[in-house]
Amino acid sequence: MEFILFEKKGPVAVITINRPKQLNAINTQVLKELDKVIDLIEQDNEMLVLVITGAGGKAFVAGADVEAMSKMTSLEAYEFVKLGQRVFIRLERLSKPVLAAINGYALGGGCELALACDIRISGDRAKFGQPEVNLGIIPGFGGTQRLPRLIGKSKAMKLILTGDIIGAEEAYKLGIVDQVVPNDELMQTVMDIAAKIASKAPFAVQQAKAAINYSSGYMDEACDYEASLIANCFATEDQKEGMSAFLAKRKPTFTGR
Ligand code: CAA
Repeated sequence: MEFILFEKKGPVAVITINRPKQLNAINTQVLKELDKVIDLIEQDNEMLVLVITGAGGKAFVAGADVEAMSKMTSLEAYEFVKLGQRVFIRLERLSKPVLAAINGYALGGGCELALACDIRISGDRAKFGQPEVNLGIIPGFGGTQRLPRLIGKSKAMKLILTGDIIGAEEAYKLGIVDQVVPNDELMQTVMDIAAKIASKAPFAVQQAKAAINYSSGYMDEACDYEASLIANCFATEDQKEGMSAFLAKRKPTFTGR
């Protein structure tokens, strides 16, 4: 594995997305490695809880990899987001609970990764947002579906349509995260919660997760729709302008084409 670190700490599996120079941005390889690790965790009866975090101290995950996406056709973008959606749905359906330890930027696909986890604990320096509209696209890893289900339609509209980046306290007030702790206490707090869950009857915990997930319905069709809409964006000039501007570290000029 090149971009995923995987450790077993007693009954808790810890996955670290490890591309710190790119703020842990998600490319196809990250998704494929994540998919493989999910297989290992699902099959290992000793692992009862999964924790996901980001390497490098600055980011949880700063989104899907803009450089990789800037070269994609609509069809390639569709395939990329379908892979991401499939892997995130696997996390959501993993029989074991998944905790996000959000230690920095959780933007775009990074916020969507956190949303696919069962419990989100944030460090006080974390930042959240769905800034895809700045790039001429929309969230593509399930964010248009999970965010409104979690915080309500109009609050999700505001975040996704403005692309605003918000701090951890505001994310807590909106209900995006369940708890905010000082960054240097984050891992201990998350490991304590994981250990508490791991001390309960495993089968009961798994059944509870499945039952709660049933309350928000299945994501497959909803994600299909999102994937087709983000693929449409990749046929526009504004997507090319948005991503070139990000890579050139300048402001985009959108024309509506
Ligand atoms: N993809 C690729 N590279 C990224 C990245 C991303 N999402 N986010 C950051 N990086 C890279 C930067 O290009 C930069 O690389 P260089 O050192 O080679 O220039 C490096 O990481 C450090 O980033 P910055 O210099 O930008 O650091 P900063 O502290 O000035 O800013 C930031 C931090 C605000 C997070 C900024 O990096 C940023 O805005 N990142 C992009 C956030 C974003 O738009 N995410 C959504 C992506 S689209 C998406 O996720 C679609 C989807 O749903 C599937």
